[in-house]
Amino acid sequence: MDKEKNHLQKDEEYEIDTLTNDRLIKGHDYDGIRELDNDLPPWWKWLFYITIAFAIIYSIRLFVFKAPDLIQNDEYQKEMASFNASNAVAKAGKTFEVKLLTDKASLAKGSEIWHKICAACHMADGGGLVGPNMTDKYWIHGNTPRDLYNVVTNGVIAKGMLSYKDQLSDKARMDVVSYILVKLQGTKPAHPKAPQGKKYE
Ligand code: HEC
Repeated sequence: MDKEKNHLQKDEEYEIDTLTNDRLIKGHDYDGIRELDNDLPPWWKWLFYITIAFAIIYSIRLFVFKAPDLIQNDEYQKEMASFNASNAVAKAGKTFEVKLLTDKASLAKGSEIWHKICAACHMADGGGLVGPNMTDKYWIHGNTPRDLYNVVTNGVIAKGMLSYKDQLSDKARMDVVSYILVKLQGTKPAHPKAPQGKKYE
C-alpha cells in the first residue's frame, strides 16, 4: 500500500500525484477509485464567465431598459406586421394585370423560360412538335395575350399541355406569353408544324 502511494504528496485536503500533478481529494476513495480535483481548463472557465456577463447584460437590457428587440410581444407584433405585408404583396399578385409586355427585361426572361421549359414540346424556334406551332396565325385557343395566358396558366391537360400555375409566377407566365407573341409570331421556323385551330388575322 505504502509503496503504491509513495509518489503522493500530502497536505490538508489533497494529495498531489507527483507523477501527473493531479490533485486527489482526501478520503474520496472508493474501492481504489480516487476523485480528482483538477483546475477546469481555461477555455471552459472563460466560456462560463462570458455566459455570466451575457446574462447580466441581457437582464439589464430586458428589465431596466426594456429593449424593444427583447420584448416578446413586440417581437411577435413585428413578425405579424412583416407577414401581413408579404401577404398583401401576394394578394396584389392576384389582381395581376394580363397585358402584353414589350420591355427588354421581360422578353429576355420569357425567352429564358421558353428555351428551358417550353421548347421541349414547341421547339426552340416555336415551329411546334408535340405542341402546336407558335409562329403561324393559327390558334386553337385564341390569339390574345389573355387567351395564351389562360392556356399557360391552366394548361390543356387532356391534350398534353401542362398547367404552369405553380411552376411559374404570374409575371413569368406573362413574360413567356409576351415572348411568343412578340418574338416568335411571324418568324420562319426550320420545321413548321402544320396549322392547328383557327386562323386569326
Ligand atoms: C409536354 C409538352 C408541352 C410543354 C412542355 C409545353 N406545351 Fe404548350 N402545348 C402543348 C400541347 C400538346 C398543346 C396543344 C393543346 C391543345 O391541343 O389544346 C399546347 C398548347 C399551347 C398553347 C396554345 C396554342 C394554341 O394554338 O392555342 C400555348 C400558348 C402554349 N402551349 C404555350 C406553352 C408555353 C408558354 C410553355 C412553357 C411554359 C408550354 N406551352 C409548354 C404541349 C406542351
